[in-house]
Amino acid sequence: MINILIIDDEPEVGHFLSYLLSSKGYTVSLGGSGKDFYHLIRERVYDLALLDIRLPDANGLDILKQLKKTCPGCKSIVMTGYSTIKTAVDAIKLGANDYIEKPFEDIDELESLIDRLLHHNQTVNDSEIHRIAKQTGLVIGSGKEMRHLIMLAYKIAKKNINVLIEGETGTGKEVLAHFVHQASLRSDNPFLAVNCGSLSESLLESELFGHEKGAFTGAIKERKGIFEIANKGTIFLDEIAEASLSTQVKLLRVLESGEYMRVGDEAVRRTNTRIVAASHVDLAGAVEQKMFREDLLYRLEVVKLTIPPLRDRKQDIPELLTYFLEKQQSQLSFSEEAVNLLQHYQWPGNIRELVNVVKRATALAEGETRMISSEYLPDKLRAATYDRTSSRASIIPALGKSEKDLQFYLEDWVKHIHQLWAAEQDVGLDEIIQQVKELEVRIGRAFVTKMLKETMGNRKEAAERLEITTRQLRYFLNEKKGG
Ligand SMILES: Nc1ncnc2c1ncn2[C@@H]1O[C@H](COP(=O)(O)OP(=O)(O)OP(=O)(O)O)[C@@H](O)[C@H]1O
Ligand SMILES: [Mg+2]
Repeated sequence: MINILIIDDEPEVGHFLSYLLSSKGYTVSLGGSGKDFYHLIRERVYDLALLDIRLPDANGLDILKQLKKTCPGCKSIVMTGYSTIKTAVDAIKLGANDYIEKPFEDIDELESLIDRLLHHNQTVNDSEIHRIAKQTGLVIGSGKEMRHLIMLAYKIAKKNINVLIEGETGTGKEVLAHFVHQASLRSDNPFLAVNCGSLSESLLESELFGHEKGAFTGAIKERKGIFEIANKGTIFLDEIAEASLSTQVKLLRVLESGEYMRVGDEAVRRTNTRIVAASHVDLAGAVEQKMFREDLLYRLEVVKLTIPPLRDRKQDIPELLTYFLEKQQSQLSFSEEAVNLLQHYQWPGNIRELVNVVKRATALAEGETRMISSEYLPDKLRAATYDRTSSRASIIPALGKSEKDLQFYLEDWVKHIHQLWAAEQDVGLDEIIQQVKELEVRIGRAFVTKMLKETMGNRKEAAERLEITTRQLRYFLNEKKGG
């Protein structure tokens, strides 16, 4: 016998579900309030609970927590209206198996969801997740945090909601976006990426929305934008924080209504695209600084997936190494000592930096040895291990005392890079940009650490004196929001 608990304060919904499920042979208990829930939960052990997230006398998330405690084996589906979708996503984070939107548009879908939860076990999901991860080149690793994150990404991928991915540079935001697309019902349609930081405002708008012939100098032909090309598919808006305020207004309109206009055209067009946006800067901080529209952020972050930096999931490094060696079809492997060194490094450039280190090491070791020892790793990895006990700020070279000195120093540095580039053809731009990104993080951290010393650890004052927000300060210290 299968027991199902239904809690909903709208009698029509409760009775409808009760009728539907009883007719399929399930034993149904129906309640209309939080009070009913606390009463019914003591009466029997349930296999499945359908919970309204908004009840007059109780918080849906509290009820879910109680359900997990009292009846750990019970599967759960939360029911939500559009206005409470964010809470529904929180419920999934808390362990609800899924959510459905009210009013129910597709009863078959609801029935098959219930059927799946009751009769399939977790391994079906797991093997599907691994299949898609493999297909999109995403290593999940053995750490709990990433496994949870990917499970959440998988569950929400099938919903029609926008996703925001945050994470430091090189943590795999684009890879995860691709995973979300592949796991979604849109996977047969296009996945297109646009980097909002690499184009000028007018080019970005023409890329997004398309343009008419003659819309601006150089627009010799009409052109489709990606909202048109990726219709029914997914658009990955990378570095979304870089979009100008005026582009943000246009994006908000598409997100709210699905409507947009080509540049130089008055005709309103419609699109059905899912947005996955990414940012390596904290968007809430950008909102505080009035650089980013709050209403747009609200629309984008229906679900927020935050990828942890590599230094916080070092247990995943061995699996990543195996994957990257395989990808390069290399027969080499890393020595235990080398892996150990790799696991002690801070990885400011995250997985991208790891990829580069593996590429370099295999290129050097190929033909010389089968086992990559620490000698084939860059010096900075060893330096970082020796430095571990001293302060983090010491990693960067000594700077001058005044602002002027610092400016000279940076100009010098740029000159030096130019010279290097002129002299040595094979200094890759990619590599330099990577190092600049690492430097950005290091400089930020060094400034913050120094200022915190001066203010005896007073964060508010340190932020004020650096003229940054406390959020940015936490970002530089690599702490999560609210941490
Ligand atoms: N989980 C992962 N498994 C395998 N490879 C990964 C993973 N995450 C990232 N990578 C690899 O690391 C590199 C950087 O990933 P990606 O471009 O997705 O990072 P990002 O977060 O978008 O970085 P940025 O903020 O600089 O744009 C890519 O080569 C990608 O294939
Ligand atoms: Mg990226």
